[in-house]
Amino acid sequence: MKYLVIGKTGQLGSALIHDLSTTSNEVLAPNKSELDITDKQSFLSAMKEFQPEIVINTAAYHNVPLCEDHPLEAFQANCLAVKDMAEITSEFDVWFVSFSTDYVFDGRKGEQYIETDVPGPLQIYGLSKLAGEFAAISYSKSIIIRTCGLYGFQGATSKGGNFIEKRIKDSKRLSLLEMSNDQTVSPTFTSDLSKAVLKLVDHKSKQPGIYHLVNQGFCTWYELTEEIFKILDISIKLIPVDRKGLTGKMRRPLFSALKNEKAANMNIDLPHWKDALKRYIRSKHLE
Ligand SMILES: NC(=O)c1ccc[n+]([C@@H]2O[C@H](COP(=O)([O-])OP(=O)(O)OC[C@H]3O[C@@H](n4cnc5c(N)ncnc54)[C@H](OP(=O)(O)O)[C@@H]3O)[C@@H](O)[C@H]2O)c1
Repeated sequence: MKYLVIGKTGQLGSALIHDLSTTSNEVLAPNKSELDITDKQSFLSAMKEFQPEIVINTAAYHNVPLCEDHPLEAFQANCLAVKDMAEITSEFDVWFVSFSTDYVFDGRKGEQYIETDVPGPLQIYGLSKLAGEFAAISYSKSIIIRTCGLYGFQGATSKGGNFIEKRIKDSKRLSLLEMSNDQTVSPTFTSDLSKAVLKLVDHKSKQPGIYHLVNQGFCTWYELTEEIFKILDISIKLIPVDRKGLTGKMRRPLFSALKNEKAANMNIDLPHWKDALKRYIRSKHLE
């Protein structure tokens, strides 16, 4: 198959390109200057030139506080561009896969969200991603994958590196660290996510629509940090703090862990987050 993967320098895009390079599939991975998703003509030209059979878009405007300050840019990348790509891929009759977020939910359920739960975003990022979901799934070959708390070998450029590397850096310069214990999430290793995405795309009975794909289980950012330090045997004072999901005036969901109900029914499973974290840290820091 011929894949067009957008977001080659990102956490998820780089993992997908790595995994696809170990298969017999052909992969086309332009960088942002060659294909900007907010430029419809640029995407259309890529479709005409490459003639892919599957398009996977990992690009987004997903720095959450920045979305609040720049709502137009957020809606342009997370909604309008996704709508344009879904429309164009549908005209070419090829599958389109794009990614959404746990932040489409308000967190009031208090337990893991499944695909059919009713969304209720609390901030511009979630709103723009939810709008993008609706825009894409009105086309018949669009798949939206909601995921959460990503980390991978290639750090999120838009956020200045991944959560784990930032906490390891903190531990080298601080003797005490305060970490938020009010938000519960499903931390997800892009290497596990990438493999699950490719299984889903390859699955004979895949249907268009929304899927959740995260590592199993859930924890708070404080509990995740505790586990990172435990694996690396780091002993600094770690203090849980309750920020009530607030960054300034911006609200984040307090419990946005996801459950992969649809994928599990297709025998697509991801390991537990603690197992994923151990594998990531071992291969990045201990080998
Ligand atoms: N990170 C998380 O914790 C998280 C959680 C839930 C959902 N998600 C979703 O998962 C997806 C992947 O996230 P990620 O963490 O892998 O992102 P990432 O590391 O920030 O990578 C984004 C990639 O998209 C590229 N890009 C950005 N704007 C673009 C544009 N206008 N046109 C073309 N390419 C563009 C970036 O290129 P440059 O490097 O050149 O800017 C980068 O290669 C996103 O849809 C995100 O919303 C992420």
